Amino acid sequence: MESYFKIEIGNYIYKKIILSSMQDLLDLIISRRTITSFDPKFVSWEKISRVLDAGRHAPSCGNLQNWKFILVYDSGQKQKLADALHEQYEVTAAWTLVVICGETAKAERYYGERGKTYTIQNCAAVAENMLLEAHSLGLGSRWIGAFDEGAVKSLLGVPEDVSIQVIIALGYAKDIPEKPPKFPLEVVTYFGGWRRKIRDPSKYMNDIASILARKAQAVHAAAQQVVQGITGKK
Ligand SMILES: Cc1cc2nc3c(=O)[nH]c(=O)nc-3n(C[C@H](O)[C@H](O)[C@H](O)COP(=O)(O)O)c2cc1C
Repeated sequence: MESYFKIEIGNYIYKKIILSSMQDLLDLIISRRTITSFDPKFVSWEKISRVLDAGRHAPSCGNLQNWKFILVYDSGQKQKLADALHEQYEVTAAWTLVVICGETAKAERYYGERGKTYTIQNCAAVAENMLLEAHSLGLGSRWIGAFDEGAVKSLLGVPEDVSIQVIIALGYAKDIPEKPPKFPLEVVTYFGGWRRKIRDPSKYMNDIASILARKAQAVHAAAQQVVQGITGKK
């Protein structure tokens, strides 16, 4: 990760930081893995709270933030919760399970039937933010979507009008699995309509990471010139 200059020159430095962190963010996104086996090691509250905080800052419809996070870290309770996860018992080794609840009724009050979809989207945004922050802190995580919702609700005393959206297993990874294959950008991207492709996708789509890296390098070089101008040092 690049360090940045501790000087203020208008918004010049600000631009550099943003560009360099765009590259870092893409690296973070690309290198995140779904962790299948966890080491039952203690995770500090500081790290857990940062992960929750990342979730809290997710976008939501009308900034409704209609979510609540339930932390399950007691081993007996984790075991009971795992009973509702269609035999995914290995997640009990994770330090904590974060149950992301969606206040669906709240969204429906504002958006009618569409509120259900928005609640799913809101909570998915929370979940992805949490996975990425966890990864940035060296933690492993696993998105769990396969569960018996009724059983989870009754175990945790979740009211009728609240839904269980995602459960995140959070802890230290025992093993980091190989990256599963992902479709190339040109396969998943259409231009201006369904199945509309461009003739030479590699010209436009090839390796966004290197385009961002080039931009970051250019800004870095320019910032160095400015610093040299101020300090007179190379
Ligand atoms: C909606 C959704 C539900 C998922 N449910 C589960 C699950 O119940 N158990 C599990 O082990 N992984 C689950 N996953 C994780 C996927 O299996 C995983 O993201 C996928 O295999 C790609 O691997 P990657 O995350 O390492 O890129 C889920 C992911 C999503 C987005």
